[in-house]
Amino acid sequence: MRIGILGSGLMGGKLGALFARAGHEVVFSYARSPEKLAALAREAGGRARPGTVAQAAREADALLLAVRWSSLEDVLAQSGDLAGKLVVSCSLPMSEDDSELVIAHTSSGAESLAARLPDSSIVSAFGTVPSEVLFDVFAARNRAVRPSLVYCGDDAAAKKTTARLINDVGFEPVDAGPLRIARYMEPFTMLIAQLAYEGSEGPELAYRLERFASSR
Ligand SMILES: NC(=O)c1ccc[n+]([C@@H]2O[C@H](COP(=O)([O-])OP(=O)(O)OC[C@H]3O[C@@H](n4cnc5c(N)ncnc54)[C@H](OP(=O)(O)O)[C@@H]3O)[C@@H](O)[C@H]2O)c1
Repeated sequence: MRIGILGSGLMGGKLGALFARAGHEVVFSYARSPEKLAALAREAGGRARPGTVAQAAREADALLLAVRWSSLEDVLAQSGDLAGKLVVSCSLPMSEDDSELVIAHTSSGAESLAARLPDSSIVSAFGTVPSEVLFDVFAARNRAVRPSLVYCGDDAAAKKTTARLINDVGFEPVDAGPLRIARYMEPFTMLIAQLAYEGSEGPELAYRLERFASSR
């Protein structure tokens, strides 16, 4: 697949590198220096390259939106028309000081993104884990038991593509339902962040959901 990375920071830089290692064609975009984008592409290897936001968006099969909430309008102003595009978002609607969700309970960042881009297919994914764990999960991808990663969206084909990408990074995709479920996923991320960043065991944290067959 061709994947455009919109926001090449902690999340976008690492996920882009892993998509490239999984064999996808990746365009890294949106960082404050073109040199950083070039270095990310070089380190990712494979068919990765740096580009402008518009270049990353053009002809992409999927876009990863990985920007801070305050950068959303800026990156969308540079992307060109995203009608018909799959936009996988790990972006959380955090306050400027990154301390709390500014949209929650009755809506979510993912739903407000869908309202902003009504002609795109929005899937919320990857935002429920810290960036620090991504390379470790990828390294362990051939283990029988993988960590889970929840995702949600309203478009079945877009979700199928996203599940493939989640699988490529090394997680077991867990379909959490329609996009409105992001209003539960995003606060769940705050719990994961609490455990990752406020605990004593480091931020390399993923989670696993287990189901037990009923004995009745
Ligand atoms: N970090 C995590 O573990 C984590 C986990 C789950 C969800 N999230 C969410 O994922 C999203 C991305 O988080 P992140 O931690 O990856 O953020 P980040 O490291 O700050 O990355 C944001 C990217 O946007 C670029 N950028 C910012 N302002 C810009 C400007 N004016 N012009 C061009 N580029 C600009 C940054 O450039 P530079 O590279 O030059 O700084 C960086 O590449 C956020 O919504 C966050 O809440 C993050």
